[in-house]
Amino acid sequence: SPALTPDQLKALVRTVPDWPARGVQFRDITTLIADGDGLAATIAYLADRVDAADAQMVAGMEARGFIFGAAVAARLGLGFLPIRKPGKLPIETLGIDYALEYGADRLEIDPGAVTDGMRIALVDDLIATGGTACASAALLRKAGAMVETAHFVIDLPDLGGADRLRRDDIAVDALMA
Ligand code: PRP
Ligand code: ADE
Repeated sequence: SPALTPDQLKALVRTVPDWPARGVQFRDITTLIADGDGLAATIAYLADRVDAADAQMVAGMEARGFIFGAAVAARLGLGFLPIRKPGKLPIETLGIDYALEYGADRLEIDPGAVTDGMRIALVDDLIATGGTACASAALLRKAGAMVETAHFVIDLPDLGGADRLRRDDIAVDALMA
């Protein structure tokens, strides 16, 4: 089992007040992933939960979801599906527009990467309003996937994102709040 406890992992996350806008408490995982034991334990915890969910593929959201999602997928021998910011994929994409805690954006995938009926687990560093994760789930479902679970390093429960995901019939877990 992982060498570090979730409390020790939480101590490795840096909180920066009023960034990138006033009133936002930015939870920066740069300091967590710079620590070898911290990174390894975080991936181990997430992989256990994705494995327990019996997922067939892992999807991660650009950019920080790529760091955790691809490592989890590789550890479990699963494929990884990048959910990309717009204009990055060199093919005809499937896309969705969404809002986040600060600003708005669009996400795109390669629809050819999704096999019909495949169980895909979402992985990201953090859930705030849930805009990114809900849009990601809707996009994967539009592509024919089954999205039943989402796994985060950090949940900011006051922002309601996990509740939003649960209303879309997605089970949510996080290593820390
Ligand atoms: C952050 C974070 C999540 C999302 C959470 O990504 O990594 O993907 O915001 O916010 P929400 O629950 O309100 O949607 P960001 O869009 O800042 O992009 P980055 O990973 O490229 O920094
Ligand atoms: N993405 C959205 N809200 C965030 C926050 N408070 N900290 C880090 N990433 C975020």
